[in-house]
Amino acid sequence: MFTVQTSSPEETRKIGEAIGRLLAPGDVVGLMGDLGTGKTVFAQGVAKGIGARGPVTSPTFTLIHEHTGRIPLYHVDVYRLRTPADVEAIGIEDYIYGDGIVVLEWADQVLSILPDERLDVMIERQDMSEDDNLRKISISPHGERYRDMLKELKAIACRRD
Ligand SMILES: Nc1ncnc2c1ncn2[C@@H]1O[C@H](COP(=O)(O)OP(=O)(O)OP(=O)(O)O)[C@@H](O)[C@H]1O
Ligand SMILES: [Mg+2]
Repeated sequence: MFTVQTSSPEETRKIGEAIGRLLAPGDVVGLMGDLGTGKTVFAQGVAKGIGARGPVTSPTFTLIHEHTGRIPLYHVDVYRLRTPADVEAIGIEDYIYGDGIVVLEWADQVLSILPDERLDVMIERQDMSEDDNLRKISISPHGERYRDMLKELKAIACRRD
């Protein structure tokens, strides 16, 4: 696991962007964390890193936003769906096992329908802190491909320091 702390939406976007640059067709990123922690902000960064077109807004009501670009990006929010069966009903598997990149908010609600190989990103508020803008971002790779990706991400992070 790789953990970073951010102190602004811009910083969270930057982490998302660095990951977006490393993503390839077929990749799946599961975003987790409470309401308003920054999942959509993170997805905005990923979209920038991928080179996706169009503004990245919350798909809470629309469930799924498609963005064209170097690689198609499917930005999904399953908050209102709750159960894996509801999510299957919107045809999520076609996206997950397709050639685009899927970034899914509230992934922890539907773990059973997600592929075993994926990148999980958990965003948490730092409740003990005075600063409302602090977030802990924990990135967990599942599978060889994502472990390699994380190594690359760490190398990039080290070069920046
Ligand atoms: N370090 C930070 N990283 C990300 N967002 C931050 C940070 N500090 C403050 N914020 C603010 O937190 C909010 C995050 O909103 P965002 O819509 O991305 O959350 P979300 O997790 O997608 O919420 P929801 O559960 O409703 O989908 C924004 O208002 C953003 O400005
Ligand atoms: Mg959101």
